[in-house]
Amino acid sequence: MEKFLFVLGSNWKLSLAELDNFLKFSEFKGKIVDYSANIAVVRFEKLHEEKYFINKLMELQFMLGGCQKIAKIIDFINIHTIHEAFPTKLEKHKLIERIRKEILTIIDNDVEEIFMRIRNESLFYAISIYPNFYDDKYYSEVLVKHFLPFLNTGIMHILKQRRAKKALYYKYPKENIESGNLNPIFPHHLITYGLFDRNRAEIIFGFTEEGVYIARTLTCDDPNFKKKIDEGRPHKEFKSSISPKLSLIMLNFLNLFEDRQNKKILDPFVGNGTILMFALIEDFQIYGTDIDHTKVKNTIKNIKWLATELDEIIPPELDQKIKELDISEISKYFEKNYFDGICTEPDIGPFFTKKPYYQEIKELISNTLEKRYELIFSEASNLLKLNARIVIVAPIFSTLDGSEVQLNITKFAQNYGFKSIPMLDVNRIVNKSDIRLQFQKSQVKSFIDTKKGQIVKRKLYIFEKKG
Ligand SMILES: C[S@@+](CC[C@H](N)C(=O)[O-])C[C@H]1O[C@@H](n2cnc3c(N)ncnc32)[C@H](O)[C@@H]1O
Repeated sequence: MEKFLFVLGSNWKLSLAELDNFLKFSEFKGKIVDYSANIAVVRFEKLHEEKYFINKLMELQFMLGGCQKIAKIIDFINIHTIHEAFPTKLEKHKLIERIRKEILTIIDNDVEEIFMRIRNESLFYAISIYPNFYDDKYYSEVLVKHFLPFLNTGIMHILKQRRAKKALYYKYPKENIESGNLNPIFPHHLITYGLFDRNRAEIIFGFTEEGVYIARTLTCDDPNFKKKIDEGRPHKEFKSSISPKLSLIMLNFLNLFEDRQNKKILDPFVGNGTILMFALIEDFQIYGTDIDHTKVKNTIKNIKWLATELDEIIPPELDQKIKELDISEISKYFEKNYFDGICTEPDIGPFFTKKPYYQEIKELISNTLEKRYELIFSEASNLLKLNARIVIVAPIFSTLDGSEVQLNITKFAQNYGFKSIPMLDVNRIVNKSDIRLQFQKSQVKSFIDTKKGQIVKRKLYIFEKKG
């Protein structure tokens, strides 16, 4: 049965959860049958049977916030075979040589699935190796330094033996190979190098604990598109803005996969409108509120700009849908049970350039944030339809004394009739022996999104209004 390889985003746990949720609830039904911290192996129930399944995969790629590439799996090699052919210590030379030859025989059978025609063609390919974890010594010492060159030249010989006119491969910088510090080529390179063309390909070797999946990339994220929207819009403020990827992931956790054009979603702390812009791209009916008059105007301008960029009509009555309102007043303005989802990143206080004192954060939480989150859930309980979801960010502060402080938003949610929804259904996830790859039930209630050195981390939660 056909399988597909998904290259996960940098926050792999969140990306895996987003993908699993999609496969469980959307029309793209399927299951993750294997994974590492970089890839997920997916088996669809039906999608692969469709004639134009590539178009469907492109649609899926476009909707997912945490997916870099989607590839079709052509073959699999058991991890023991790889370890025998590429051991950490080169000892049994004869055995190594024999197993390496066997690996090339396997790949020889695969190249016809990678390139439609080989004879007399000028071919170009890029090899991308995805390890279990980038900081695995086996990756830097063996896979980058030995497996990659073996694949590059091995595949070149196979193609030449099959009478290709030319067979060239993408050369990674020498210094990266020598240091073992290598990132597989980025999605924008796939587009630049035309690796979706008939005579060109990215060939992925994606490792899990079980072995290596050999796959040919079919589609990838277009980071330039997201960047253009994020950076090209008339009003932006990078300090307080959420990323396009996280906006998409949050929107997907609303679990509104069908009939999106009739689903009304609200961001009550709209800021410059990042979440709403991506919600518009994903076909939702968008609504937003903010206490700040300028922010409301900025969002309206950004949305109008976006609709023009996308060559779409500007959503009607925008100034009725994006309003200047304090969080406490929203349910006076909109009808009860009006919204199908709320997706938001509330104001979490000042922007810290230095780590704050523990006491300062304790006061911020008890004087401001607890009240704010309480108000959010009390308003959301009026505004949302039954069983509708709120996907919300709460902060984790790193303080000067080294401790991390967060607020318990679950208690407010529960007080207003919401139940917490785990980000990942652990029963659907296959077992892994490496502890770094395991998910415990207690750890999947929320996931953290952070960049290195960030003082305030974002913690993501999903709550559902109880029926
Ligand atoms: C973190 S920003 C949201 C940024 C937004 N996600 C973006 O990407 O542009 C929080 C927003 O909450 C607004 N805000 C602060 N207090 C508020 C209140 N009491 N009611 C409604 N909005 C409020 C601020 O004006 C600010 O625009």
